[in-house]
Amino acid sequence: MIITTGDRPLTEVAARAERLAERLGVRYIARGNLSMNKLFSRYGGAEVLVVLLEGVRLLRPDRPQLQFHPSMGFVRAKRVLKGDGDPMLDSAGMAPGDSVLDCTAGLGSDALLFAVRGGERSCVTALESSLPLYALLAEGMANYTSGIEEVDAALRRINVVNSDHQSYLASLPDGSVDIVYFDPMFREPLEDSAAISPLRAYANSASLSQESVLAAVRVARKAVVLKEKRGSGEFSRLGFEEMLRPGAKTSYGVIRIDQRS
Ligand SMILES: C[S@@+](CC[C@H](N)C(=O)[O-])C[C@H]1O[C@@H](n2cnc3c(N)ncnc32)[C@H](O)[C@@H]1O
Repeated sequence: MIITTGDRPLTEVAARAERLAERLGVRYIARGNLSMNKLFSRYGGAEVLVVLLEGVRLLRPDRPQLQFHPSMGFVRAKRVLKGDGDPMLDSAGMAPGDSVLDCTAGLGSDALLFAVRGGERSCVTALESSLPLYALLAEGMANYTSGIEEVDAALRRINVVNSDHQSYLASLPDGSVDIVYFDPMFREPLEDSAAISPLRAYANSASLSQESVLAAVRVARKAVVLKEKRGSGEFSRLGFEEMLRPGAKTSYGVIRIDQRS
């Protein structure tokens, strides 16, 4: 991956892109008047992260471009701010102040919801193992402005980490997080998922392992939650109780942690 800016960037945008490249240990390329095609051919067809004043994009030849945008997460966040329920948060039994480990950050929509419901006292950590997606997310979460102060504050509170969840979970003490959440790439994709289809080209599509679920059960105080396609065999394979929702194409599966012991 390389990191660059749009054409004729402001000095502060170029400085931000350069700092991000340095932090991630990847090359920063001053854009000059290079076209995207020139950048692709000059740097071997690797992913290019383009840092812009109010946005960030991820590109690769012959793949759909991905732009940071909380999309449906924004719509859901507005509903939660109004006091409405949300099936993911309600399945998790999440209360304000709860801590959350989102093991599959993607574009961060679900992490945003956890941060909104959790409020200022909560701690939400979002793990993403794909370096290009992590870079898109970290830069987007830090700089995206939605026009709603509470949403922007929630985005900034999320601690985005570039890590595989299996090794991260192994490093955590027992009972150290209220809720552990998994939303892996579905075993059978929902073809009409506009938010997830472009992500697929850059994502880690490995299946969720039983070891990771066992580690999550050890680490969680309240619940471990899995999102999958409705009726997916993953729920029973991994020991989750599927919460069916009328008319929904996806379900949340839950393992509740008995807190009496
Ligand atoms: C379906 S997407 C998650 C979408 C996300 N819930 C959202 O709201 O945008 C799954 C994401 O998890 C990441 N992922 C898959 N396996 C992972 C692992 N072992 N550790 C960390 N991230 C992983 C993928 O790269 C992908 O970005």
